[in-house]
Amino acid sequence: MSDSLTCPITCDLFRDPVVAADGHTYEREAIVKWIHENGTSPITRQRITIDTLISNYTVKKLVEEFEEITRSQKYQFKLDVDVKRKSHIALFTTFGKKIHEAEWLKNNSSRPKTVLLTIDGARAQKEAKFYVDLTRHPNIVRTFGLVDSGNSNVDKNSVMLLQEYAPEGNLNEVIQHKTLDENVLIEIFIQITNAMIFLAHNHVVHADLVCRNVLVFQYDIHDPRKNVVKLTDFGISRHSQLYAPTNAVTRTVIDILPKCSAAPEVLANATYSEKSDIYSMGVLMWEAYSKGAVPWSEIPCDTVKQRVCRGDKLQKPSSCSTQMWLIIDKCFALRPQERPSFVDLKDSLLQAQYQKRVRGNKYRTDFTVRHCFHSVLHSWAGRQSFLGGRNKSFTAVYT
Ligand SMILES: Nc1ncnc2c1ncn2[C@@H]1O[C@H](COP(=O)(O)OP(=O)(O)O)[C@@H](O)[C@H]1O
Ligand SMILES: [Mg+2]
Repeated sequence: MSDSLTCPITCDLFRDPVVAADGHTYEREAIVKWIHENGTSPITRQRITIDTLISNYTVKKLVEEFEEITRSQKYQFKLDVDVKRKSHIALFTTFGKKIHEAEWLKNNSSRPKTVLLTIDGARAQKEAKFYVDLTRHPNIVRTFGLVDSGNSNVDKNSVMLLQEYAPEGNLNEVIQHKTLDENVLIEIFIQITNAMIFLAHNHVVHADLVCRNVLVFQYDIHDPRKNVVKLTDFGISRHSQLYAPTNAVTRTVIDILPKCSAAPEVLANATYSEKSDIYSMGVLMWEAYSKGAVPWSEIPCDTVKQRVCRGDKLQKPSSCSTQMWLIIDKCFALRPQERPSFVDLKDSLLQAQYQKRVRGNKYRTDFTVRHCFHSVLHSWAGRQSFLGGRNKSFTAVYT
């Protein structure tokens, strides 16, 4: 069976797959929205209509089987039984972490592509369900579960996580090589903000919100509708209580890195909150406009803390519009309580997106008004469903 279990628009596992008149299968909600806005197929560009959508029960059954198997195994997989590394050469080797491309050993043609993250020195082996539940969001990289190597010689403190594979790498790499339209950047910021609203609601502080930790599943430098990004490296982030490297040497090295995007209160006394994540989100947006430049790189490293703590702010990148800079600049307020929440930030970004579209008149005007109505409605409905719908039974406890 070669039917993919992920939607080509959302890059997310199907919940309600439908076949359109172009012969392709999409998530119902995503293709309905797409047809409202465009009237054509996202793949073949032929005209398609909502009334011709037909449920794809075959794909729905495959997704349900996949979900049921992982649930019944309590989100625990066995290395070389359920999954294996594609190669012994790692895709990435970072501090205390190795990332290998992996493949399913059963039904591998339709299942999502995966990577195996081996994290050394994990202090706590958290329940697999915790990671799985905390990653059930369209803009958070999905963790399918934990993997047991079956080898008793392997470091008891290390953890292996099975995650979905991001084919386009991380956002930092993409922005270094491609110049994305501001409309595209705003769409990407909205998607990251959606993920952060979900994390903040579950009392999770990301603590390392940078472009490197945003994985790109699909991008188009001009068309915002064809971009899908997902957040990673939280919950297993270096400051998280969930997981912390036990190796003191590694820790000293990696603690140096996030400094340039950290909030003043983090640098001064390690106080993390949604508002410190908002500050980092401001730096992330600056980084995206600056083609991946390192913040504060023009001043000596040991003066960054002093400058940030006295309220010095990053300068507006030349490609950033005044309207967007007003939004970003608010994230840099010295006092955390004066910064927006992620919900406030999303409202500002949606407004900017709306105004740019109306002004730029990039798409057909007849769709613009409809689209904006839909995105506001969608954003509202999305917020309701993420906070109370799909994840109703889930309340993450961040201890
Ligand atoms: N699921 C994934 N799919 C594809 N590439 C990934 C995935 N997870 C991580 N990577 C790549 O590995 C890099 C490091 O991963 P990350 O988990 O952020 O480690 P670190 O803790 O070193 O920041 C990412 O920036 C990205 O390029
Ligand atoms: Mg990272």
